[in-house]
Amino acid sequence: MFSLDDKIAIVTGASRGIGRDISLGLARAGATVTLVSRTEAALQTVKSEIEQAGGNALVCPCDIADAEGVKAVAKQVTDTYGGLHILVNNAGMTRDNLIMRMSTDDWEAPIRTNLTGAFNFIKAVTRPMMKQRWGRIINITSVVGVTGNAGQANYAASKAGLIGLTKSTAKELASRGITVNAIGPGYVATDMTADLPEEVTTKLVESIPLGRLGEPEDITPAVVFLASDEASYITGQTLLVDGGMVM
Ligand SMILES: NC(=O)c1ccc[n+]([C@@H]2O[C@H](COP(=O)([O-])OP(=O)(O)OC[C@H]3O[C@@H](n4cnc5c(N)ncnc54)[C@H](OP(=O)(O)O)[C@@H]3O)[C@@H](O)[C@H]2O)c1
Repeated sequence: MFSLDDKIAIVTGASRGIGRDISLGLARAGATVTLVSRTEAALQTVKSEIEQAGGNALVCPCDIADAEGVKAVAKQVTDTYGGLHILVNNAGMTRDNLIMRMSTDDWEAPIRTNLTGAFNFIKAVTRPMMKQRWGRIINITSVVGVTGNAGQANYAASKAGLIGLTKSTAKELASRGITVNAIGPGYVATDMTADLPEEVTTKLVESIPLGRLGEPEDITPAVVFLASDEASYITGQTLLVDGGMVM
């Protein structure tokens, strides 16, 4: 089901957490996966895991906030493989603070990575995808981009921005066979949420109808589906994968 054989994919934030699992999942479905983050050694480990499972991967270290670096990654992928079919904009960061205490740098950092980074990659892959008249762009937003969250005005704005970016590019690129969708995870157990105090986690779990935090493995199947041929009539949507937290 949902074969991605012969598809060339890029996953940002592939070094750990949700992006690592998405990379493994796309490779299991048959895609060749370009692994992007700033930490080359961690990407090499994920590449080895993919290869041990019989898949193919390319390591491209890059800070996604650097537009020139992103362009170079897209060029390396198309030069190496002659095409580029799937982009998963997953890399993300938080810089939490209450608005009264939030510095301009705190405000800008998540916007630069989470939103401008995604814009940089979408811009870099659009031409090769248009040439193929086939493409899948999947932006990892967050439930917080829909609901807002005290202490995360910067992060929530970046994730709400991703939803607007998703809808606008979906409209621009639909006639070229390119779909653009967003996935909004709820709370997923990764480095990003590792520092939450236990009482906060307990409260969160109580607010999740399915009664547990998510795991990276809960997000990956939605990505594989939206990347597949079978999802060709779905675009501009935000799919919340959150155990029913927001409905
Ligand atoms: N965990 C959750 O509960 C949750 C909930 C909703 C949404 N999300 C979203 O899901 C995505 C993945 O989150 P996660 O929980 O897996 O986070 P994570 O474990 O903290 O991993 C973040 C990933 O992003 C990469 N990254 C960060 N800044 C980067 C930059 N400037 N350039 C390139 N790569 C960069 C990191 O790699 P390097 O450090 O190696 O560069 C790492 O691979 C994020 O967009 C996050 O906002 C997470």
